[in-house]
Amino acid sequence: MNDESEIAFASGLEGVVAAETRLSEVDGEAGELIIAGFPVEELASRASLEEVIYLLWYDALPDSERLAVFREELAGRRVLPRAVLDLLRAAAAGRMPTMDALRMATGALSLDISDDESAADRSHAEALALVACLPTIVAAYWRLLGGEEPVAPDSELGHAANYLYMLTGEEPDAWSVRALETYLNAVADHGMNASTFAARVIVSTRSDVVSAVVGAIGALKGPLHGGAPGPALDVVFEIGEAGRAERVLREKLGRGERLMGFGHRIYRVRDPRADVLASAAERLYAAGGDGKLYRLALEVEKTALRLLAEYKPGRNLQTNVEFYTALLLHGLGLPPQLFTPTFAAARVAGWTAHCFEQQGLDRLVRPQSAYVGPRDRRWVPLEER
Ligand code: ACO
Repeated sequence: MNDESEIAFASGLEGVVAAETRLSEVDGEAGELIIAGFPVEELASRASLEEVIYLLWYDALPDSERLAVFREELAGRRVLPRAVLDLLRAAAAGRMPTMDALRMATGALSLDISDDESAADRSHAEALALVACLPTIVAAYWRLLGGEEPVAPDSELGHAANYLYMLTGEEPDAWSVRALETYLNAVADHGMNASTFAARVIVSTRSDVVSAVVGAIGALKGPLHGGAPGPALDVVFEIGEAGRAERVLREKLGRGERLMGFGHRIYRVRDPRADVLASAAERLYAAGGDGKLYRLALEVEKTALRLLAEYKPGRNLQTNVEFYTALLLHGLGLPPQLFTPTFAAARVAGWTAHCFEQQGLDRLVRPQSAYVGPRDRRWVPLEER
């Protein structure tokens, strides 16, 4: 408590309810995630990403006519402004990390947004451009980093299929598209996570949706939020064979390191998205790919859970979404540098929906701080310091 104002203080805003939302509910005790009314298990492996975006934006599943129009609208916005491609070329020449390039290029999407529209139309145009273009930015940048020319989006393909197509230049098989889409749907929104909160704070000042998403990308970049799947897979590779799992993980825990892919601020039981993605990964690896790695990852998970219970008793640290994200995206042929940008390409659906919701509320987010610094300091002239 802050003695002076008697306003509750919660470090990290833990337990603080910062908004009402109809977009998603995370029940950390029960291990449940509801996305706009649907349990994640019901939605993620059935819906197309376009349906999930539509659901988040308009609070209902589209009928086939509305879905066709929405798909076309999104597909028509996938092409990047030339200046954004030029920026990405410059970033690739400097080997800029993928999330930094994504943040920079996302800000430049404002180039294509007209200032003449009403505020609501402008927000809608920005949200469409953001959702449509984030995969294009990521894929184009990855190809440029690899010394290849970007592949132009194919407006005939769905959102997820087109992303894989722009990465590889080849039309993906149905299994891969389904696996990617299940992942993108499962992580499209997740309560008041740090990046979503950042986006809501930014639009609450009546700033624009592009600014909000740029801020959200900055928040997502950190390893305690969206930056964990790369490192989670690194640990599996470092372990290399099941027999070494216990020794390597004990060494890490003994050094006080956190095991990436485990633990969650909200979930005190298993993250339900981990289950959805575990099933999707199982199907993907059964259809082909590195089965040895898949089996090793399962062993690493089992050992990690046992050791976390031993080293952090009572904390109930469980597998989080990042662990299976890493496995799934690796199975799709995506390199670790693309894991967090791909997460962003999914979460942008939630960020934009939260922006709309916050705009409807039109209430500035402005908490307080508890001052713990010194008082009564007196000015000392420069020559006397
Ligand atoms: N490995 C080892 N120890 C851990 C881990 C972990 N993965 N997670 C938490 N702990 C420890 C903490 O160090 C703390 O120990 P202490 O009490 O001895 O100091 C204790 O468990 C309790 O921590 P919590 O309060 O439960 O964790 P917090 O809410 O602060 O952090 C977080 C949650 C940041 C996700 C943490 O679990 C972590 O760093 N995990 C690894 C990174 C990761 O996987 N991030 C992705 C999260 S999912 C997502 O953002 C989509």
